[in-house]
Amino acid sequence: MTTQTKASHFVVVLAVFAALGGLLFGYDTGVISGAMLFLKKDFHLSINAQEFVVSSMLLTATIGALLAGPTTDAIGRRKVIIAASVLFIIGAFALSLAPSYNWLIGGRMLVGLAVGFSSTAVPLYIAEIAPASHRGLLVTINQLFITIGILIAYIVNYTFADTLDGWRWMFGLAVIPALIQCIGMVFFPDSPRFLLAKGRETEAKAVLKATRIDPHLTQDIRRIKTNLHEQKGTWKELFSRKVGPALMIAVSLQVFQQLTGINTVIYYAPEIFQAAGFKGASAAIGASLGVGIVNVMMTLIALPLLDRWGRRPMLFTGLSGMIIALFSISAAFLFPNVTALKIASVIGLMVFVGSFAIGLGPMPWLIPSEILPTKVRGRASGLSVVGNWGSNFIVASFFLSMIHSIGISMTFALFGLIGILALVFFYAVLPETKDKSLEEIRVHWMGAPKSTRRSSSKK
Ligand code: BGC
Repeated sequence: MTTQTKASHFVVVLAVFAALGGLLFGYDTGVISGAMLFLKKDFHLSINAQEFVVSSMLLTATIGALLAGPTTDAIGRRKVIIAASVLFIIGAFALSLAPSYNWLIGGRMLVGLAVGFSSTAVPLYIAEIAPASHRGLLVTINQLFITIGILIAYIVNYTFADTLDGWRWMFGLAVIPALIQCIGMVFFPDSPRFLLAKGRETEAKAVLKATRIDPHLTQDIRRIKTNLHEQKGTWKELFSRKVGPALMIAVSLQVFQQLTGINTVIYYAPEIFQAAGFKGASAAIGASLGVGIVNVMMTLIALPLLDRWGRRPMLFTGLSGMIIALFSISAAFLFPNVTALKIASVIGLMVFVGSFAIGLGPMPWLIPSEILPTKVRGRASGLSVVGNWGSNFIVASFFLSMIHSIGISMTFALFGLIGILALVFFYAVLPETKDKSLEEIRVHWMGAPKSTRRSSSKK
């Protein structure tokens, strides 16, 4: 049934506007390395102060995700996205005008809150407006935009590297996508599942009609409504026998995404290349741009495959590639042969990022938005996103000291070991969600809703 449902052009427009949140997420992640070169001189920042400029955003992103969960359930995904874009705008202005260190930290914290809100609400919104047949592709537009945001940030960093007060431009430019998103989302509708949960059936029908070419509209609405009646939507419910396992998978996906070290490469690619023997500023810029381009290209390749090939095969292929790359980089740093080290680190890092982009990159954003039941989906997704930002914070805080204490080789071997753990774990527990409607996936976890069980037993 669901295979006959097609995505309309309108749903693509909605997904793209929502995914501008991903663009800002990526941009604010990538821009800090370029801005930091100025900030440490202009504000005379110590190492600790520099670290706090980076980590303050990760801290409030964690808080934002925690708040966004119940808020998206209460007021809807769309309004939270609008609130995030307003925070992005205020944060970008605050950062670009910052006269002092404290002001700078305040700006980073505002942007962090915005990222936490948006990274929770955007995948939910897209998953709930998308028809099953294109959900993988549409939700992953968000991950694509994250990677494009990172790449744009690298290019902006490069462009303003020699400009007086260049960092003000670097931070300030984020206003443009945030403003476009804010204006767009004010006029766009809420997700049909949220509208039905609030009893706004006529509006929900109109959105379903506009977002899909669907011969089974009435049936879809009945199915969504039956599911909604079944769920209570309390915090306690999250840890029940029925919802708990799905929540555990959602959180693990996010935590493993970070603990396998992606952001050490995103943040520190230039340093890693320099340690491998490449010297000079152009090598550092080349390293960042190379990583950014491979990330975008491989995410683009992943987009159409997610709904064709399925989530499990993509995740396992990606994880295997990451593990091989991590151990190759680790081995290369053990041997003093400089040429071999240079080749292995370049190829290793590119294979690592490319493999991330087809597996562990998109899956933690896609799968939780599918497997968590509607009424608790907001707060449960919020918790999984807390797992993302919290573990991002931990890795960012300890990476440099790990390199100093156990060395690059052991650090990458550790990421590789965590990758193996992830592979074994997800092989055992991850369900395939390709081509299934959100309601069919719900039946996998929680059994058929009572009302449908009753009607089928009457037949
Ligand atoms: C992760 C980010 C990471 C980015 C890289 C996202 O899915 O959550 O932490 O920087 O991918 O593409």
